[in-house]
Amino acid sequence: MTDALDPADMREQYRTKELSPADLAPDPIGQFALWFKETAASPAIHEPNAMVVSTATPDGRPSSRTVLLKHYDGAGFVFFTNYGSRKGTELAANPYVSLLFPWHPLARQVIVTGRAARTSREETAAYFRTRPHGSQLGAWASEQSRVIPSRQALLDRYEELAARHPDRGEVPVPPEWGGFRVVPEAVEFWQGHENRLHDRLRYVRAGEGWRVERLAP
Ligand SMILES: Cc1cc2nc3c(=O)[nH]c(=O)nc-3n(C[C@H](O)[C@H](O)[C@H](O)COP(=O)(O)O)c2cc1C
Repeated sequence: MTDALDPADMREQYRTKELSPADLAPDPIGQFALWFKETAASPAIHEPNAMVVSTATPDGRPSSRTVLLKHYDGAGFVFFTNYGSRKGTELAANPYVSLLFPWHPLARQVIVTGRAARTSREETAAYFRTRPHGSQLGAWASEQSRVIPSRQALLDRYEELAARHPDRGEVPVPPEWGGFRVVPEAVEFWQGHENRLHDRLRYVRAGEGWRVERLAP
């Protein structure tokens, strides 16, 4: 193990300009839009819309996975998945959820906590129609999170569907597939600084608007 990489020796340079409440947009969606744009412009970040979604069973057993953010606005943050998957069944029983955007190369992180609700079938269908034909078939082919006998079983199912729905044919939306909209209750913007004196500014709902509080790093 002498050549092993020791994570304790790793140190990153963080930012110098502080983030103050006066710099923030009046609401967290506006602030998210600013950071998201900067993140998307950075060649260091591969998929800026990738986020870690954490859910939990009603008795508090957590689970996390990466999904892609597909839409956001004042109503919330939207992603698409299989409702029968682990995350889908956990959210059906317990809607509390956390979304984490790990923008490490920019020394930034955004954490959204709130409640998830299914998008309407119309909204799901509108998005499904924009997906490439192959991913539409893929959504049908996979009973996400189930144990399967082999990769070949998945490929066979895909081929069967591809034969049934040739390239230009419209693929209906799988009944178990759709979106979740996460309505935020709090959104934290984290920015790294030297000596671990990081900025953490959190928007929390206050009546119709938001208040911002600073957290110890
Ligand atoms: C970069 C990346 C993007 C992903 N995007 C999605 C997505 O948008 N929707 C989805 O259901 N799974 C997505 N996945 C797969 C999930 O991480 C996960 O394996 C899958 O949703 C099953 O999760 P579950 O069993 O915890 O429900 C993505 C994985 C990665 C690494």
